[in-house]
Amino acid sequence: MQWRRRHCCPIKMTWTIKRSVFRTHVTGLLSLALLFTFFLFFSHQDWLPGRSGLRENPLSNTLKALRSPKGDGNQSSSLRSPWRDGGYVAPKPLLNLSTQQAEGAAGETVGSRMGVMGLGDTMSTNNSLQKEMGVGGTLSAQPYRYILNEPFKCRDTTPFLILLIAAEPSQADARNAIRATWGNESVAMGLGFVRLFLLGVGKSSDTFLQSSIEEESRIHHDIIQQDYQDTYYNLTIKTLMGMNWVATHCPHASYVMKTDSDMFVNTEYLIQKLLKPELPPKHRFFTGYMMRGYAPNRNKDSKWYMAPELYPSERYPIFCSGTGYVFSGDMAELIYQASLGIRRLHLEDVYVGICLAKLRIDPVPPPNEFLFNHWRVSYSSCKYSHLITSHQFQPNELVKYWNHLQSNKHNACINITKEKNGRYRNRRFHGERPP
Ligand SMILES: *[C@@H]1O[C@H](CO)[C@@H](O)[C@H](O)[C@H]1NC(C)=O
Ligand SMILES: *[C@@H]1O[C@H](CO)[C@@H](O)[C@H](O)[C@H]1NC(C)=O
Ligand SMILES: *[C@@H]1O[C@H](CO)[C@@H](O)[C@H](O)[C@H]1NC(C)=O
Ligand SMILES: *[C@@H]1O[C@H](CO)[C@@H](O)[C@H](O)[C@H]1NC(C)=O
Ligand SMILES: *[C@@H]1O[C@H](CO)[C@@H](O)[C@H](O)[C@H]1NC(C)=O
Ligand SMILES: *[C@@H]1O[C@H](CO)[C@@H](O)[C@H](O)[C@H]1NC(C)=O
Repeated sequence: MQWRRRHCCPIKMTWTIKRSVFRTHVTGLLSLALLFTFFLFFSHQDWLPGRSGLRENPLSNTLKALRSPKGDGNQSSSLRSPWRDGGYVAPKPLLNLSTQQAEGAAGETVGSRMGVMGLGDTMSTNNSLQKEMGVGGTLSAQPYRYILNEPFKCRDTTPFLILLIAAEPSQADARNAIRATWGNESVAMGLGFVRLFLLGVGKSSDTFLQSSIEEESRIHHDIIQQDYQDTYYNLTIKTLMGMNWVATHCPHASYVMKTDSDMFVNTEYLIQKLLKPELPPKHRFFTGYMMRGYAPNRNKDSKWYMAPELYPSERYPIFCSGTGYVFSGDMAELIYQASLGIRRLHLEDVYVGICLAKLRIDPVPPPNEFLFNHWRVSYSSCKYSHLITSHQFQPNELVKYWNHLQSNKHNACINITKEKNGRYRNRRFHGERPP
């Protein structure tokens, strides 16, 4: 607090003056910090031409994405971007819900007799799903029955990585694209690798759909399905199905990634650069795109609406975007066990965050903030060779970009370096460099 003494006059000040002086200092400090941040960004881009081939583009992309949170193209259908709109808002007074709405919102949670007084209560309350626990406190049957299961995937191997991919029953195209691209076992280069699509059931009237899924399952043996309705509001059930599967059938897997069927996942980068098979596997490890300080969305028309009755606190605990998070194998059982005492909330990633909070396990920020993206990063082989997730891919795009990336793997950033040098000269010429 040296500067305070030095900068603050010893004479008595009125409260208003003190406040404005304080404000000035705070504003000054904040601007300095901001300037410094920009300075860092730009200095990375301009002053390290040798390394920037790798680093620059993800950086500038994120800057772009920060300016326009929806990324390139229209992301109105994006499941995740509205978090940003809902986030960091001043807490609003609780809305006045009709009983019906409240019941509707509570309908998909399985628990009853719940306290509603805040996160603490959300976590401590009893849950009818306690019956999922066996007598010895071990995992036992889930409330939903398996229609398709792959119980023997790990009988002969202990996989290094399990991919749990939430997919809708009708998305056979997306599943095929993933099998041919980032979900292909060849990405793991001989390390044990398990790919599972997580499904509920489609409309009961559609028996053709179900029989084609069963056929698909016979061919690929990579689908698990339980008899809950496959809806957005049941995503938490789906994720917990995956956690329970790992805990039950593959508890010694080193790592698990949960992601979605519309994602681009650079599984090679994930395995080689983030998880590093040459190192001993981590424990109690959880990482992904960090969502910090988000407020529940209290707009009843929103897909992300959270009824205050279900979650009264004004902030969610830190959680990782459901578009793609990665955790050590031991976490599956811990999360599943924790979930037995926490009422089911339909926002899957928030829910897992609450489980982590209960377990007192903090998600670890990824080594750099460009690895996990929950919006779509505009494609370039350079950027995509240095990220792990990008959102909003159609199956045909996935195949197209994956193949481009594969065939340019070893010179992915070659064009960037050229472009960059051009830009660099330009900027200097116009004197646009920051001081
Ligand atoms: C985005 O959506 C708006 C309205 O839905 C539309 O007018 C606009 O052309 C779209 N932009 C792109 C890039 O698709
Ligand atoms: C809440 O809703 C009830 C029933 O619709 C209404 O009678 C009451 O005035 C509302 N309260 C507030 C604060 O809006
Ligand atoms: C929670 O549920 C279990 C099993 O139904 C019951 O034995 C236990 O007493 C309940 N605990 C509380 C705090 O209600
Ligand atoms: C997975 O990759 C291998 C080797 O690149 C390839 O032969 C195989 O056809 C791929 N699988 C699918 C389903 O595309
Ligand atoms: C979730 O699945 C259960 C079991 O099939 C079903 O009863 C419930 O309606 C579904 N919830 C939603 C919101 O779709
Ligand atoms: C680099 O640019 C050339 C010419 O525009 C293009 O053919 C090639 O595919 C690009 N390479 C990569 C890795 O993007």
